[in-house]
Amino acid sequence: MKKIIISNFKMNTTPSEMKTYSMALATKTSESKNQIIVCPPFTHLCVAKQFLDGSKVSLGAQNVSSEEKGAFTGEVSASMLKDLGVEYVIVGHSERRTKFKETDRLVNKKIKTALANGLKVILCIGEDLASRQAKQACAVVKKELDDALKGIYENELEGVIIAYEPIWAIGTGKTATLKDIQKMVELIRKEIAYLYSDKAGQQINVVYGGSIDIQNYKKIISLACLNGALIGGASLNVDNFAVIARENY
Ligand code: 13P
Repeated sequence: MKKIIISNFKMNTTPSEMKTYSMALATKTSESKNQIIVCPPFTHLCVAKQFLDGSKVSLGAQNVSSEEKGAFTGEVSASMLKDLGVEYVIVGHSERRTKFKETDRLVNKKIKTALANGLKVILCIGEDLASRQAKQACAVVKKELDDALKGIYENELEGVIIAYEPIWAIGTGKTATLKDIQKMVELIRKEIAYLYSDKAGQQINVVYGGSIDIQNYKKIISLACLNGALIGGASLNVDNFAVIARENY
């Protein structure tokens, strides 16, 4: 089954390293049947574009401004990314929600701006440990989904990938169990069906992220309910990321 394999470099590596990485990834994944997306820092996008051109790998950014343009020092707009050949953008990552205080409202605005500019969105949602322990995980995920998708039309969902990333599993070496992932993916599909239609619930792409590595990737990504994975730490090693990206699931 064809899967979507996404890297998130976070704030790691340099543009020079991106050149070597891109060349290696393009070669190593030339036979892959999966959809591969790399999301390096903004500073790496030009070099990544140059060395991934003509390969199986698409380019994503890790963030985007909610504003179109203007006096917003330090921000990067959706049209700038689009012009560079970027196809995807990660929105609502828990690190942006917690460390940069991004609200559900801002996440919603970013999604609208990204879609309006022809970018596809990788929308991250997921509960923290306290919510899970308080048996509130489903409620948190549902609310994040509802708020993020306010005012987004069903025909726009084609441009949205939902990444379920439980915060307690990010960078901790603790993955959610297959049962937990399955349960949450089902909940996400059900919520999409409720908000839009049964067809939308079935068709929406849902990926999992949180401590996926070269040892555990196959059993997680092979889950029939999942469309792929969003990989942080393990994506920094191009050999490992290429193995995950070219696997037959
Ligand atoms: P890790 O794979 O390092 O746990 O990170 C997951 C993540 O946050 C991807 O967006």
